[in-house]
Amino acid sequence: MSYILGQIQAIDSGSKEFFEVLNIETTEDYNKKQKFEKIKNPKIEFQDVTFQYDSNKTVLENVSFDLSKNEMVALVGPSGAGKSTIVNLLLKFYNPTSGAITFNGKKYSKLSHNQVRNNIALVFQENELFSLSIKENVAYGSDIDDKKVISSLKKANAWEFVSNLEKGIDT
Ligand SMILES: Nc1ncnc2c1ncn2[C@@H]1O[C@H](COP(=O)(O)OP(=O)(O)O)[C@@H](O)[C@H]1O
Ligand SMILES: [Mg+2]
Repeated sequence: MSYILGQIQAIDSGSKEFFEVLNIETTEDYNKKQKFEKIKNPKIEFQDVTFQYDSNKTVLENVSFDLSKNEMVALVGPSGAGKSTIVNLLLKFYNPTSGAITFNGKKYSKLSHNQVRNNIALVFQENELFSLSIKENVAYGSDIDDKKVISSLKKANAWEFVSNLEKGIDT
């Protein structure tokens, strides 16, 4: 009983913070119906991007570069140089303090989060698996059929071991 009560107290205080975040007003209308367009020849440009998280310290100063289709780019630099900050800006978690990011000529500030993130796939350093089937873990966030799940697994070199499981993608 005391173990359960302790857990309930921790959940109670944790959920307060959780709901505080959920109650923050969005800067964008997520209920708006919009088309999910995939851009064929993506090109992202950073034009003189300057950025600071808070008012006193500039993290990025006049950063310019472009990323084109089929290009493989690595950001290299010491810890704290601003690599993750560039990724945060690419994903539109923040907006530049000055300068602009454009996606095929369109300013990020004029594009919705959906339009930007629909065209980006992100693989984190630590991967997250949900307590669901392999199929659901591969397909999450999109409405795809078994064939697409299997072709994705093949591309990720995972099909070989998944196909050997007794329940396959339903494991
Ligand atoms: N959310 C944040 N709020 C305020 N400052 C931050 C935040 N995230 C990172 N910083 C600061 O921005 C600088 C760049 O950090 P970061 O982009 O994480 O560097 P890197 O990924 O290259 O190690 C660091 O000085 C860091 O302290
Ligand atoms: Mg980092």
